[in-house]
Amino acid sequence: PIFTVQGYVETLLNGALEDPEVNRKFLTNASRGVDRLVRLVDDLDEISKLESGKIHLAKQSFVIQDLINDVFEEMELRASEKSMTLSFKKGTAGDLSVFADRTKIKQVLSNLLVNAIKYGHDQGTVTAGCYVMDDKHIYVELSDDGPGIGEEHLPRIFERFYRADRSRSRQIGGTGLGLAIVKHIVEAHGQTVNVRSKPGVGSSFGFTLERSRI
Ligand SMILES: Nc1ncnc2c1ncn2[C@@H]1O[C@H](COP(=O)(O)OP(=O)(O)OP(=O)(O)O)[C@@H](O)[C@H]1O
Ligand SMILES: [Mg+2]
Repeated sequence: PIFTVQGYVETLLNGALEDPEVNRKFLTNASRGVDRLVRLVDDLDEISKLESGKIHLAKQSFVIQDLINDVFEEMELRASEKSMTLSFKKGTAGDLSVFADRTKIKQVLSNLLVNAIKYGHDQGTVTAGCYVMDDKHIYVELSDDGPGIGEEHLPRIFERFYRADRSRSRQIGGTGLGLAIVKHIVEAHGQTVNVRSKPGVGSSFGFTLERSRI
């Protein structure tokens, strides 16, 4: 994106453009490029901190459904732009308390949800499910009815910079850091993350969390 920004800004500096509409468009594009750069730098910073193993987890007890609701609300606009629905799976358990770093788990949920919306079909649905696995674990799952991920990609999908379906991914934009960050955060909690997917049917990303007694 840095070259995109440079290109637009240089053209504007050269004053070659008469049409204010075009100028506006160039500025908008340059500004989008800057946003993407900022996000990229943030993600790289996050991943290097996570990989150095120096992250500090501020664990607390909270209701996982409340956090999912917060993330759903934040993503509502993005989802509505594609007429997508965000919902809870029917028959999901009542409020479940977990013990984890709320801010970091929020990032996990956001990264997964951004993907589900970004790669999902128009009018698609993303559903969240929360389950009691056993005495010590809660299982959280985000499922979409998007394009799915080919089986050959699944083993590498959590690697940094790995992107399935390059042509589609390039068109959609992204770096390939979202899922690497997800995996690092979940594993830093001593928990596990997994993916199930069928091309043409959808994808499901799930992770475990420590169950809280409070
Ligand atoms: N819900 C999904 N449906 C279909 N494909 C997905 C889904 N989530 C992830 N993918 C595939 O996995 C790849 C890796 O995802 P990841 O979030 O790590 O990177 P990204 O979305 O490409 O970029 P970034 O998250 O850094 O903006 C994506 O490029 C995409 O091909
Ligand atoms: Mg992503």
